[in-house]
Amino acid sequence: MIVILDRHNRMSSSELQARLRAVDLGGSQFGVDDITNFIDQMQVYEGAMYEISTKLEILDGEFQVRFSHDPIHHMERRLKSINSIVGKLERKGLPVSVNSIRDNLFDVAGIRVICNYRDDVYSVSNYLSSQSDIQVLRVKDYIKNPKQNGYRSLHVIYAVPVFLSSGAHYTPVEVQFRTIAMDYWASLEHALRYKTDLPDDKLAEHSQTLLDCARSLQNIEVQMQNIHRDINGAPQVEET
Ligand code: GTP
Ligand code: MG
Repeated sequence: MIVILDRHNRMSSSELQARLRAVDLGGSQFGVDDITNFIDQMQVYEGAMYEISTKLEILDGEFQVRFSHDPIHHMERRLKSINSIVGKLERKGLPVSVNSIRDNLFDVAGIRVICNYRDDVYSVSNYLSSQSDIQVLRVKDYIKNPKQNGYRSLHVIYAVPVFLSSGAHYTPVEVQFRTIAMDYWASLEHALRYKTDLPDDKLAEHSQTLLDCARSLQNIEVQMQNIHRDINGAPQVEET
């Protein structure tokens, strides 16, 4: 069994309505129809998120049975909050409407899959990506090509069919696959990014230290991966 952390509470439509009414659309507000559409759409995103996490649980279970190995350490999932959705659309200069969310935002439903080893990241993501009922919309491999600040993770946007009375609605879910070490690093880097009251020199110093940490963690991961491969009779990986 995998531990799944839900980073949001299950939606209650009265709560959603209250929050939507409070969203300021430059003087105007969401109308009743927009609110109903929005709630319906969020329900679809939630369904898509559960479909993908169930697929991941099934894969993890199969690995346990066949190889006595748990590739997934734990998962986290969340629906983007209304405030973040509106904030992101505004930042990008896009209209704030349900159609605009559908057309422009691919991370309303998000799952983070934290794996034990780097091999697990690629095997789990490859098995998921090859499933015939879902589509891969976009892949960003920040493990092979880390970001300048040292951030590493594999991001894949899937489109998954959610079946409603009106038929199949292909709905995007952003999945971030990473190892425990990558997750540990990303949490601290995220905290530093939102710590706005640090003096510039401190911020620069911490950013540099974090970059060094990212490289050290990468080396540690390769060494530990190799021990794990050796135990399981798999070929070794080169250090990068
Ligand atoms: P936005 O969604 O607008 O940010 O653009 P994008 O979809 O092109 O972004 P990308 O796929 O690069 O990253 C999306 C998510 O990955 C972010 O919301 C974060 O959760 C995570 N992420 C990306 N870069 C970083 C980083 O440098 N540090 C940390 N801690 N997380 C990151
Ligand atoms: Mg994104």
